[in-house]
Amino acid sequence: MKSLVIAIDGPASSGKSTTAKLIAEKLGLMYLDTGAMYRAIALKIYQSGTELTDKASLTKLLNSTTVTQKNQNGEVHFLLDGIDVTEAIRTPEISLWVGPVSEHALVREYLVNWQREIGKAGGIVADGRDIGTVVFPSADLKVYLIADSHIRAVRRQKELAARGIVQKVEEVEEAIVKRDHRDSNREHSPLRMASDAIEIDTTHLTVGDQVERVLALVKKLQTQESK
Ligand code: CDP
Repeated sequence: MKSLVIAIDGPASSGKSTTAKLIAEKLGLMYLDTGAMYRAIALKIYQSGTELTDKASLTKLLNSTTVTQKNQNGEVHFLLDGIDVTEAIRTPEISLWVGPVSEHALVREYLVNWQREIGKAGGIVADGRDIGTVVFPSADLKVYLIADSHIRAVRRQKELAARGIVQKVEEVEEAIVKRDHRDSNREHSPLRMASDAIEIDTTHLTVGDQVERVLALVKKLQTQESK
């Protein structure tokens, strides 16, 4: 169990982070939210006014940036250069900005290396877009979560509303569909289901159901391994 690597990928708001976090908690593994890393880098680039075309400045920025995750009262917090950016990285603006940033080869190379370093000892549940295809292609278990785009927009709208950000469901859905399209059609590490991933459609599932399904897959894996 301690060396298990679980990859949870899928489109925007498909329930990856919630599922991955709970699975990690239940199995006593480390949880890694790679989307938060891309979001934090996007925030720093945005705030510093760095042009994505300026390779030298971008490299300098990446080499002087740290993004860390810490658990605080059961919540996962993200620190960008030591400053808590948990709320700041979840705004609709950063959701727009993260697209072009995550397409950039330099950013991807930097973050993928870092993610592999974090996960090299195993014992990790990571969620993202390229975990099963690029970051940990030999993960023990690969799950690909999907859900109807309207349901995903309703979930994201609720999440935003809980943080005081008001947006119409149609607006949220349009942004989600655009981001999925961008993530799926980019040159580097496009969003794809790995050929050995197991797809779970969460449209009609509760969070509890999702977690149970993934836990059942882990159990199956362990039973197979012990034979
Ligand atoms: O929570 P949500 O599914 O909306 O997104 P996220 O996991 O926070 O990821 C934000 C964005 O970062 C995605 O739309 C991708 O553009 C990018 N990303 C990526 O390219 N590769 C990853 N492993 C994780 C996120």
